[in-house]
Amino acid sequence: MASKIQTLPGFRDFPPQACALRNYLFRKWRAAAIAHGFQEYDGPVLESLELFTEKSGPEIVTQLFNFEDKGGRQVSLRPELTPTLARMVGANAGSLKRPIKWFSIGECFRFEKQQKGRKRSFYQFNADILGEAGPGADAELIALCIQSMRSFGLGPEHVVLRLSDRTLWMAFLAALGLDEEASIKALSIVDKMERVDADYTRQQLSHILGEGTESFLARVAAMKAVSSIEGLEAFVSGLGMEALSERMAQWRELWGILDAMGLAEFCRVDLGIVRGLAYYTGFVFEVFERSGEGRALAGGGRYDRLVEKLGYAPLHATGFAAGDVTLADLLESKGLLPSLLPALDCYVVYGGEAEKAEAMRAVATLRSLGISVDYPVKAAGFGKMFKQADLSGARLCLIFGGEELAERRFKMRDMASGGEVTGPLCDLVEGVKLRLAHGIEK
Ligand code: HAM
Repeated sequence: MASKIQTLPGFRDFPPQACALRNYLFRKWRAAAIAHGFQEYDGPVLESLELFTEKSGPEIVTQLFNFEDKGGRQVSLRPELTPTLARMVGANAGSLKRPIKWFSIGECFRFEKQQKGRKRSFYQFNADILGEAGPGADAELIALCIQSMRSFGLGPEHVVLRLSDRTLWMAFLAALGLDEEASIKALSIVDKMERVDADYTRQQLSHILGEGTESFLARVAAMKAVSSIEGLEAFVSGLGMEALSERMAQWRELWGILDAMGLAEFCRVDLGIVRGLAYYTGFVFEVFERSGEGRALAGGGRYDRLVEKLGYAPLHATGFAAGDVTLADLLESKGLLPSLLPALDCYVVYGGEAEKAEAMRAVATLRSLGISVDYPVKAAGFGKMFKQADLSGARLCLIFGGEELAERRFKMRDMASGGEVTGPLCDLVEGVKLRLAHGIEK
């Protein structure tokens, strides 16, 4: 026997139940984005390799699904949507009303090591605001990120948004004498600290910081201990860096908006978050399960230099993406998934070929009105057809038997109660609508 061909590692089939779950996530994400005044966009899943090698940072480059196409071009499946968005907006910036509030739901591809919460193909909900420099835009995105989680029934007891700041980090690293390149490398090591061995982190940092590694790690530990806006104020003022007082005013503005929206209880100051992607420049955040378990549910931040790096006029930008894999796992583990497969309204059974034409007329009429209807494509005895009606999960069974049709009538059975009524064929639509709404008593 031929060997069974399976999906590639990290790729998923979506049979109806899984597809219904995916569509449920998409529906909620889309509704939240629209409620926050965002417009939907999309881009190509295949891009030139260069778009990602230069812009996303070294970690993502090792995870690219890249190859040479038949025209000899170096291309890659998209690992994220942000560079595509930056290019699209950069190329059209002159004609777009500011601020630009766009969202997208799309498939991304990363050649990652197989682990819980990580796939090689996954879906992301991206939302971004471009053309706005102030913390109000960051607050708006954090609000959308939290509200979208809330719309699935997740509360502050389930999830936490850990808020940090690359501006503060870059200032600390500059004060330690690191240039921009070394700072970005140091931050990518800090980003992975929670997930790797402490000795490995030490060894990696020593390539950049040499003898300063231990004092740097002590500083990181002190920064990570900060968990509130008051704690942050105290920490920053203790550093005596005058240049950071303006930054702290922006922190207060951001926090004030989140507090006024009633979202502060979802948020925690956490400078341990620095983000793995290289392009971030300001506030950054990630959302995790409150228990601290599992990989991130969402992540994002400000990236004010990416549009310019792609060759377009500079444009302020901030955004986030949430993934489908960790979110679905969390909703399932908390029992927050509703029943998702749509219930069928009616199942039609008929006596035989003589009654089939009338039954098919009814099927077509009901379907054209948006009532979902199924029937046995192959005629069988009534007993078998009723069994199929049962299996279909339909709420009503419409019966077109010889006796009823002789009187221009049809019969309806409520599949839950077993109650039955008959009605004239000319009232079929009204009868079905009434019984779908109110059922039939036994
Ligand atoms: P990211 O943190 O790389 O950010 O990904 C965002 C989310 O996508 C993660 O929190 C996670 O839920 C999901 N995700 C990422 N990789 C995988 C994977 N291999 N399998 C399953 N889920 C995954 C970005 O992609 C940025 N472009 C977000 C952004 C938008 N920043 C500004 N605008």
